[in-house]
Amino acid sequence: MSRAPLAAFPAIRPRRLRQSDWMRRLVRETVLTPADLIWSIVVHEGEADTIEVASMPGAPRLSVAECGRAAARAKALGIPAIAVFPHVDPRKKDERGTAALDPDNVVCRAVKAMKDAAPEVGVMCDVALDPFTSHGHDGLVEGGRILNDATVAVLVEQALVQARAGCDILAPSDMMDGRVAALRAALESDGHSDAAIMAYAAKYASAFYGPYRDAIGSASVLTGDKKTYQMDPGNSEEALREVALDISEGADMVMVKPGMPYLDIVRRVVEAFSLPTFAFQVSGEYAMIQAAAERGWIDGDRAMLESLTGFKRAGCAGIITYFAPRAAQALGA
Ligand code: PBG
Repeated sequence: MSRAPLAAFPAIRPRRLRQSDWMRRLVRETVLTPADLIWSIVVHEGEADTIEVASMPGAPRLSVAECGRAAARAKALGIPAIAVFPHVDPRKKDERGTAALDPDNVVCRAVKAMKDAAPEVGVMCDVALDPFTSHGHDGLVEGGRILNDATVAVLVEQALVQARAGCDILAPSDMMDGRVAALRAALESDGHSDAAIMAYAAKYASAFYGPYRDAIGSASVLTGDKKTYQMDPGNSEEALREVALDISEGADMVMVKPGMPYLDIVRRVVEAFSLPTFAFQVSGEYAMIQAAAERGWIDGDRAMLESLTGFKRAGCAGIITYFAPRAAQALGA
C-alpha cells in the first residue's frame, strides 16, 4: 500500500476525523454486519427446549425443534448460516463413535429441522467424532494413539451422512492429515458437488475449548489431550502449511481457531491465500466476555461487538460465534 507523506502538526490533526459520530461513521474502515456471522449452536436429544450450560451463560443446548426455530430467527436477523454441534446421549457413545454414522442421529435431525424451517439459511456441520466417542477424541484411538487413516475413512462416512441430511457446509475439525481430499472426492462421487468444505485448517490445541466440551458433554470423558493432532500454539509457519494443504486438497473456505489469541494467524492467512478465511470465536472466548460482563467488570455488548469487529478488521470473511443473534440484534437487524 502506498502512503502519501503526512503533513506535520498542526496541518494534520488526526482528531478532526474523530470529532463527532457522523464523522467517525463517515471514515470507518470496517463495518460489522449480521452477514458476517455464523451462529454456533449445540443441539441435545431431549425434549426440553433449552438446557442451560453453566460455563456458557446465554448459550444453552437446544432441542431439535428449537433448532428449527433458531433457523427461522437467523433468517429474520440476516444471519446467513448456523453451525450445529451435538450433545449426544452418553449411552449412545462408543469407542468408534458409531452414532456419527446413524442417518437419524441428533445432528441429522437438527439439520433437517433447520432446513425445513428456513431453507434460505445455510447449515454447517462439524466433521469429527468427539461428540460421539466414549473417550472424547476426534478420531479412532488404539493403544492410546490416534489412527489417522482409519479415522479419515470414518469421517468420510460421517460427512456423507450429514450431506444427505441436507448439510450445506462440511467443516472437518478433526485435524487428521489428508481428510479434506478424501471428503471432497466422496462428496463428488455421492452427488454432493454443491456441498462446500470449510476446513478447520489451523486449529490449535487450546484451553479455550473448555466450555464447548461441557456443552457437548465430552469434558467428563476426554482422556488425555489432543496435542498429537491439534496444533502447537507457538507455531505460525505451520499454520500456513496446514492452510496450503487444505486448499490444495479442495477446501472452499478455511478457518483459524480459536479466534482472538490467533488474529496474527488470521492476518497471515488472509494475506497469503485468496480464499474466504473465517475465525471461530470459541466457547472460552465467549465465556470470558460473559463472565466479566456478569460481574460488571466490562460492558458485555460493547466487548462483544468490539471483539467481532476485530476479526473482520483482521481480514475475516466471517466469524463463527455463539454471540451471533445477540450481535445481529445489537447491530439493529
Ligand atoms: C472438536 C471441536 C472443538 C470445537 C468444535 N469442534 C474443540 C475440541 O474439543 O477440541 C470447539 C468449539 C468451541 O470451543 O467453541 N471437533
